[in-house]
Amino acid sequence: MADSLSPRTRALLDEIEQLKAERNAAVLAHYYVAPEVQRAADHVGDSFALAKLAVELPQTTLVICGVEFMGESMKLLNPNKTVILPEPGADCPMAHMVVRETVEQARERYGSDLAVACYVNSTAEIKSWSDVCVTSSNAVAIVRALPQHHVLFIPDEHLGAYVAEQVPEKHVILNQGCCPFHANIPADEVARLKAAHPGALVLAHPECASDVLALADVIGSTAEIIAAAEQSDASEFVVVTMDGVRAELARRTEGTGKRFFFPEQARCPEMDKITLEKLASALRQAPMPAEKDAPAAEDAASEAPSESADAPDTVRGFVRGVSVDAPLVAPAKRTLERMLQMARR
Ligand code: 13P
Ligand code: SF4
Repeated sequence: MADSLSPRTRALLDEIEQLKAERNAAVLAHYYVAPEVQRAADHVGDSFALAKLAVELPQTTLVICGVEFMGESMKLLNPNKTVILPEPGADCPMAHMVVRETVEQARERYGSDLAVACYVNSTAEIKSWSDVCVTSSNAVAIVRALPQHHVLFIPDEHLGAYVAEQVPEKHVILNQGCCPFHANIPADEVARLKAAHPGALVLAHPECASDVLALADVIGSTAEIIAAAEQSDASEFVVVTMDGVRAELARRTEGTGKRFFFPEQARCPEMDKITLEKLASALRQAPMPAEKDAPAAEDAASEAPSESADAPDTVRGFVRGVSVDAPLVAPAKRTLERMLQMARR
């Protein structure tokens, strides 16, 4: 990639490096964001790896190149840090796809023998209704380890259905929500790719529909898909998730001649909203370490004070700073911390 950088990209990358050092900021990026944004990041990972890592980083500011729920999760886990989304309008549609009555009705019906397992792709409010969070890399293990027999899985019906199949000893109740971009990948397109590349290993994300998952050799999170491709002896792979993982696949398999084939419509338009320009702009507006408690100059006058609880040094009025409404903080944070705890066992 180094050779193909435009002067503008090179200049932005250099500026970002300088700003990160100046502002004591770490940049975390999800595998789905554009390759040049991944390149500017200090850490690139799947949702679970990023959440785990964020609590260990020494920097006082975290810039999250991902969608809104990722920023919220980082803020919940790091209440005393400044958490910034370069593009606050990047939002995962699935993160909103469950209504409170679904949770209340299940609780009423099954009482204390019900656990509500919430995919991390969810708003802080939805997390606050739940008992534990999961990601695509730990959902099966966490649901299996829950003491309750009944598990309401929200919001993703496809990941929920996959978990139900893997953990038949539990009664998993599904909710109608999905990632429109994974759920719309047609099984016949995957079957065609498979037929065109007969030796290829099919790697799929569990947000895909069950007819797609039935064609897969490996089902896993973005990090698990990348690791499977890296470790496999196969030379061709049909990759059934968003195209953004190409960059890391290329990095990890450089020089091996491995080839990757994706369905045609495999981009997350929300992740695509995050650009190098927006990352640089967010960093320019990030507080200097010494002025962390002060509002960012250009926004201080226009923004209402943040209601964020449990976060004494939230950047008040900072245009891109993530905050979570006070009543949601403790219950939503508990679900994330329970996930981190259960995943350690
Ligand atoms: P991962 O946890 O696998 O990174 O997935 C996040 C996501 O949004 C998938 O669409
Ligand atoms: Fe959300 Fe789907 Fe984009 Fe993942 S790929 S962030 S689930 S919209």
